Amino acid sequence: MNKEQYKIITMTHQVDNKIIDELDALFSRYPVEDTYYKIENTNIIKIYIHQLDFSDFKNTITLRMQSVDDHIKLFLKKMLTEVENIKSYGLKGKKRVYVGYNRERKVRDRKMREVIRGKYYYAQDHNFSKKNKEAPSEFINKVLVGDSEEVLKKLPDNSIDLIFTSPPYNFGLDYKNHEDGINWNEYFDKLFRIFKECIRVLKYGGRIIVNVQPLFSDYIPIHHIISNFFMKNKLIWKGEILWEKHNYNCKYTAWGSWKSPSNPYLKYTWEFLEIFSKGTLKHYGEKENADITADEFKKWVYAKWDIAPEFKMKKYGHPAMFPEELTERVIKLFSFRGDIVLDPFGGVGTTCAVAKRLGRKYLCIDVSEEYCKKAEERLRNVQVQLTLFDNNGGKKI
Ligand SMILES: C[S@@+](CC[C@H](N)C(=O)[O-])C[C@H]1O[C@@H](n2cnc3c(N)ncnc32)[C@H](O)[C@@H]1O
Repeated sequence: MNKEQYKIITMTHQVDNKIIDELDALFSRYPVEDTYYKIENTNIIKIYIHQLDFSDFKNTITLRMQSVDDHIKLFLKKMLTEVENIKSYGLKGKKRVYVGYNRERKVRDRKMREVIRGKYYYAQDHNFSKKNKEAPSEFINKVLVGDSEEVLKKLPDNSIDLIFTSPPYNFGLDYKNHEDGINWNEYFDKLFRIFKECIRVLKYGGRIIVNVQPLFSDYIPIHHIISNFFMKNKLIWKGEILWEKHNYNCKYTAWGSWKSPSNPYLKYTWEFLEIFSKGTLKHYGEKENADITADEFKKWVYAKWDIAPEFKMKKYGHPAMFPEELTERVIKLFSFRGDIVLDPFGGVGTTCAVAKRLGRKYLCIDVSEEYCKKAEERLRNVQVQLTLFDNNGGKKI
């Protein structure tokens, strides 16, 4: 045991051979893992206690005090009082536990509370198969033109490690082969048919991460509606990341409600990333295939990411791209090198370009031929990153 696992009592008392004999006799009753003593500078005695059968300790000293001379009696009494004065301890059988008892109890209590409350109770009764499969080669490192609802039907169950996507938000944007801004019921029906396929093709332990911005002006909390859908379909809600874009272009107030509580209009400068896991929160991968550095990990697990919006949309001719930095963080934090990453609303291939650069396999699907062509062109220019990092943040090669 290291020193942090002992409580230390420091006593000042002139030490002589008789006291040493008493200490030896007393402490030889207990294993050193429980308690021991050390003498420093002839007048400092340190007593290390992890745990102790205190009534045995007290009885032994009390008995001994009846047959020793006064200066030993005084010393033994002092030592007993010091130990007795430690009022914070846990109990393990007959022993008082002086160190770590709180931590153990906290873990026990937390586990117990989890059992009582029912951890992700909404997803416990899933019936997902645990048998993961390889995606066939015609779906690996490909850009496919088509409606994802149809294309995904051709993929086997349990064959994708990570889905990162941003569906059209139904804001009325000018996409090439998709009508944006339709009736909300129709919008969600279509979206959920595609998401059902996404759930099916995800591996057991795979993740789907959806970047979404609610249409606040219509009072439609798309991020909540989508989260409800996934939870109803037995995925575990793993968490939520706020993507702070610092987008101050949004309007200030509804007409007529400036500086009035009548109907203030809330401003949002961020979007959401909703994260779900299939079957289990843990995703399998070899340690050496994790490429996130220690610094990145520390920074990115803090779930508010300050990243500027994509500024190259004109260059790619797409109205709603997300930036590569957002994608890089998602891919490194939630997948291993060699995993297969799917984007069913692939646009001009941001997810897949980053996946390729980071040594993942990819599958990009978009309904627009034009966007897919641009994605292919972009992917052709992407080099697989050869600089790898170890887990301490240092360069490996
Ligand atoms: C928000 S954009 C995604 C942009 C992408 N993240 C990027 O950075 O390039 C949504 C994309 O979904 C595509 N889309 C819409 N409906 C689709 C469907 N049924 N199947 C496949 N793609 C679809 C649109 O063409 C559009 O490119």
